[in-house]
Amino acid sequence: MDHQAPYDEDAVTNTSDNPHFNDILQVRLSRRQALMGGIKASALFMLGGSALAGCSSDSDDTPASNTPGTSIPAPVLKFTAIAKSLDDIVHVPVGYSAAVLYALGDPIDTATTPWSDAGTETGASYEKRAGDHHDGMAFFGLGSDGKWKADASDRGMLVMNHENITPNFLHANNTTDLASPRLEDPARKEINCHGISVIEIRKNALGKFEIDKTSTRNRRLTPNTPMDLRGAAAGSAWMLSKFSPAGLQTRGTINNCANGYTPWGTYLTCEENWAGYFKRGADTGRSAAEVKLLSRYGVSGSGSNAWSTVTPADPTDTTFAQWDLSLTGAAAADDFRNRANTYGWVVEIDPFDPASTPRKRTALGRMGHEDCAIGKLEAGKPVVFYTGDDSRFEYVYKFVSDALWDPADAGKGMAAGDKYMDAGTLYVAKFNADGSGEWVALKHLSNNLNAANATFPFTSQADVLVATRLAADSVGATKMDRPEWVAVNPRNGEVYLTLTNNTNRGQGANPGVDAANPRNYVDNDGKGQKGNPNGHIIRWREKDDHANATTFQWDIYVFAAEADADATTINLSGLTNDNDMSSPDGLWFDPRGVLWIQTDDGAYTDVTNCMMLAAVPGKVGDGAAATVNGQGTFIGKQPGTDLRRFLVGPKECEITGITMTPDGKAMFVNIQHPGEGGNLAASASHWPYSADATAADASSKRPRSATIVVTRNDGGVIAL
Ligand code: FEO
Ligand code: CA
Ligand code: CA
Ligand code: CA
Repeated sequence: MDHQAPYDEDAVTNTSDNPHFNDILQVRLSRRQALMGGIKASALFMLGGSALAGCSSDSDDTPASNTPGTSIPAPVLKFTAIAKSLDDIVHVPVGYSAAVLYALGDPIDTATTPWSDAGTETGASYEKRAGDHHDGMAFFGLGSDGKWKADASDRGMLVMNHENITPNFLHANNTTDLASPRLEDPARKEINCHGISVIEIRKNALGKFEIDKTSTRNRRLTPNTPMDLRGAAAGSAWMLSKFSPAGLQTRGTINNCANGYTPWGTYLTCEENWAGYFKRGADTGRSAAEVKLLSRYGVSGSGSNAWSTVTPADPTDTTFAQWDLSLTGAAAADDFRNRANTYGWVVEIDPFDPASTPRKRTALGRMGHEDCAIGKLEAGKPVVFYTGDDSRFEYVYKFVSDALWDPADAGKGMAAGDKYMDAGTLYVAKFNADGSGEWVALKHLSNNLNAANATFPFTSQADVLVATRLAADSVGATKMDRPEWVAVNPRNGEVYLTLTNNTNRGQGANPGVDAANPRNYVDNDGKGQKGNPNGHIIRWREKDDHANATTFQWDIYVFAAEADADATTINLSGLTNDNDMSSPDGLWFDPRGVLWIQTDDGAYTDVTNCMMLAAVPGKVGDGAAATVNGQGTFIGKQPGTDLRRFLVGPKECEITGITMTPDGKAMFVNIQHPGEGGNLAASASHWPYSADATAADASSKRPRSATIVVTRNDGGVIAL
């Protein structure tokens, strides 16, 4: 299931009339010509996990699993695929274990009490407890000097997002604690259950990971934590607020979905469905541009924020009032009318300095950021960041730094972030019908992004960044089936993107199919959903294998489908009972080149809980052109046994967030919102039952989001 209303990505706020492939003249280039033109072997470096890994040439016709000269050996999956499951436990392959490490409410210091399972913890105590809805996550090895040590596997900082909450399971008394107007403490708890956890973990005497609650580096960031605004939108008129009259700061981050990590040792967190948290209030006094901006980003005119109904004991406490965008002051610097503009960014965090102030990197654009992945890294070339905007019919972006990568900046922390993330060019993707693609610059005064633009008056780059979606509408970017996570193959630099599903595709007045989003069907043996209910994973290869290229070639790596679905219109990748799936969302290449796919599904849940699969994919162009129900597209080679189900989660959960120790022997995975459809009186899930994530008992505890650690019983590396 998707996130609980109103914090979801279901609303279609993209009403622009950009062209779709149905409207574009088919270009009759041969597939092979299109794909092979300009692809040359090249020596390159790329980011592999948290370290830099060397990689070299890749000849055009050699399967990726057998690529000569690649310094990362071709991975070969060596576990037995597991079955689909509706059990209320975590399943992993034979020979593996899964232990619960960090669950909702767990303390991060020695002074805070353990989780009671009664909802009696105070709201303030969550500044020192695990938040809810664990999501994107990264492990940073920790050296004895307290700094990043890229190859450390026994001790590290684990940083993770807490995307959202399941309010039904947070409180002591749902009758009073969820009643409107809201009481102060329960509302504070819900706010503090969002944000980020930064925790130090280490192996104990038994070799098992545990949280070091004595670490002074442990930290929670919440929707109240002060954050700096950086890049061209910082200090602009859009950012002025009562909290920061100069528009250089804001407070907090929220709905942090997926993540990224940089070669300089910082964590990137992405603000996704932030729009639903705000009360818009009346538009009287707002400019036409301000009104258009609110609507395009889904800050609904009827939206209300329950937290803003709190009357705090301390009348100067703006924790609650700041969610109300109403014009209550004389000017923007006197109220919170602009606060929504300070959300929708990629935020950089230093995992090693608990006193550091996170920086919102506005140069990367404002959207429902799902993820942020760094492209193939080459010395002397720009650093490239890929990011998707997860809502129906939204776009895919990349940011190309002005500064050229200097390997001496590895490990330099936020100062390197200032260098590579505040100045550069933001681009949005067009996927063409002939299998090519282009990156269109969203740069003030280029591509008609000027004050006379009919979509939005772009008077500065700050306007382009704050209104990124409108800028992308204006240049005719391709409307995708909900861009979620991005992952870069460390073996060849190709970029993979999950398009999780889109049940509006081809429905009513919504856009029809196009080459990159080619399916519109009915899931007629299950839940009857239409459009593209199961989703797909697209991938592309940048021209000449340089991440900063402005053109690329694409194909579709895999179409998610049920194994028994029609092979010519739905199950186009030939999935079987060992690897069929629905709604791919989380996506990560580990440093060895194994692709991990996690699902957040509501279409196949009549048959299976959400899951994680491992894959060793080929490469762009290893399949063929195809026509699906009259729509041309490009389908990668069927994955076969190089795609296998590795994990299935408990009931009503989403599997999201993954990272690994550099030695490949411990994998961290997040189990988000088990039992999300229930309440204290009736819940389908009571997971986790104990420290063993794979075991259930007869107890009926509150279900809790949690991080699990997966290990191999013989101490070997995961999956290979
Ligand atoms: Fe937070 Fe798009 O999933
Ligand atoms: Ca079905
Ligand atoms: Ca997600
Ligand atoms: Ca999702």
